[in-house]
This record gives sequence, structure tokens and C-alpha cells, in this order.
Amino acid sequence: MIRSALMNVMTAAAIKAGRGLKRDYGEVENLQVSVKGPGDFVTAADQRAEKTLFEELSRARPGYGFLMEEGGVVEGSDKSHVWHIDPLDGTSNFLHGIPIFAVSLALERDGQIVAGVVYNPATDDMYVAEKGQGAFHNNRRMRVAARRTLAESMVACGIPPLAGIAHHARFQTELAAAMAKIGNIRRLGAAAIDLAMVASGRCDGYWERGIKPWDIAAGIILVREAGGFVTDLSGGSDMMTKSEICTGNETIHRLLLDLLRKA
Ligand code: IPD
Ligand code: CA
Repeated sequence: MIRSALMNVMTAAAIKAGRGLKRDYGEVENLQVSVKGPGDFVTAADQRAEKTLFEELSRARPGYGFLMEEGGVVEGSDKSHVWHIDPLDGTSNFLHGIPIFAVSLALERDGQIVAGVVYNPATDDMYVAEKGQGAFHNNRRMRVAARRTLAESMVACGIPPLAGIAHHARFQTELAAAMAKIGNIRRLGAAAIDLAMVASGRCDGYWERGIKPWDIAAGIILVREAGGFVTDLSGGSDMMTKSEICTGNETIHRLLLDLLRKA
């Protein structure tokens, strides 16, 4: 496990925000059957978790800036540090009572992500990585899987929702090509968890379009520190600006990129 002061700050903030989310998740199950449904309640849970992260991190590292899913950009006096925060990645899963969601939190220093934490409070799974220090899942070192063929692989993806209709046609073409070559395909519903699955070797690869920086900031360093490759869908490093991502071990990443390019 990484025992740095920075990692202590990040994991403590994620656990605190996660505690609130876990309590709220229990409540969601009761609201499921109400006429109004749990929608507003989940929005409030999301905002509460973000507030906890903002307060904890501001207290521990005064002056750092923030890029948050709900609250947007908060400029800091320290221009070289920015927190990337997704307080509740996998919101739809949370809303439907599916225990695949996470607090996702990363630190950017001088334009580079140097640390990431993904924490699923429903299962108490903690994934952490710090630049040059490796990646860990609940104190165990993570390594990406070693499989070398798509036919043997389990690959995660993101299916664009109804609101993301602009991506539907392209995704359908990609999925058809992927289904013809890949052993098994999954849609877990939380990008941070998809990346944690690749980092921990449970999934061999993952791709998605229409993704936001806070969805992937922490997960990217998890995969890289676990020995994996992460690029945009052209093989470049513009995941954040192009809103797209492709990951895997060196071989699966290359095969997946190639398959999607030709689709
Ligand atoms: C979403 C999840 C989902 C991905 C979407 C994201 P949210 O984040 O990560 O897996 O497909 O692109 O927006 O809304 O649950 O925080
Ligand atoms: Ca998200």
C-alpha cells in the first residue's frame, strides 16, 4: 500500500464521502417504489458527497484548485495543483440500487495526474495509485491482465445513454465489430470502476466515447501504474479533450484500438 501523506489525505476524503453515499444508497432502495422515485434524492446525495470532498481536501491542502462534476471549476491560489472530482461515478447504478458506483478523485500537478483514488463504498473496494509508486487494490499490488488475444478477453465499454444519441450510430458499428472478435463484453455503468477493473486485471480492456475528465482522471493513473496502456481512440494522449478512451495491456490495447479504428 502507498503510505504517503497525500494518499492518506485522498483516501480519508474518499472514505468520508463514501460513508455518506453508503447511507444514502440504503435510502434509495426505499424510494425506488415511491411514485416520485429517488431522482431528487440521488442528486442531493451526489452534491453532499462533493461538498464533503471539497471541504476535506480544501482543509488538508489549502489553495489547490478543483474541477468537479457538479460544481465545475474552482480556481485555487496554487496554480500548479488541481483536484479532479467525481463524487458519484455510476449515478444511474446508484439510482437503480445496483452496487457498482464510486467516489473518484485525482490530483493534477503541473498538468500531470500524479495520484488517483477510486472507492466503491458499497463493496468497500479501495483502488489507489501514485505516480512511480504502483497501484493497489485494498493493500494488494495491482497488475493488468496478461492475456494476449481478444477472443480470450473480457472487455468493458460504455454504451451511450438515450441522451447521448449523437454517439449511437458510431457505437453500434463499434459494438458489432467488437462482438465479432472479443470473447466477452461488459457494460458496468461506472467509468472509474471500468478502469479499476482493467488495472486489477479482471477486465482486459475498456473503451468509451463521450466521457468526461472527472470520469477517468483517477482511473487513468490506476491503469498506468498497474502496467497498462491508456490513449484516446487514435492512439494519442488527448483522452480529456477528445472525451474518449481506450485501455488494456500493451497487446490488448493495440488490438482493441485497431479493431475500433477499422469498425
Ligand atoms: C457516467 C458513468 C458511465 C459512463 C458515462 C458517465 P456518472 O458518469 O461513468 O459509466 O458511461 O459516460 O457520464 O454520470 O454516473 O457520474
Ligand atoms: Ca462520472
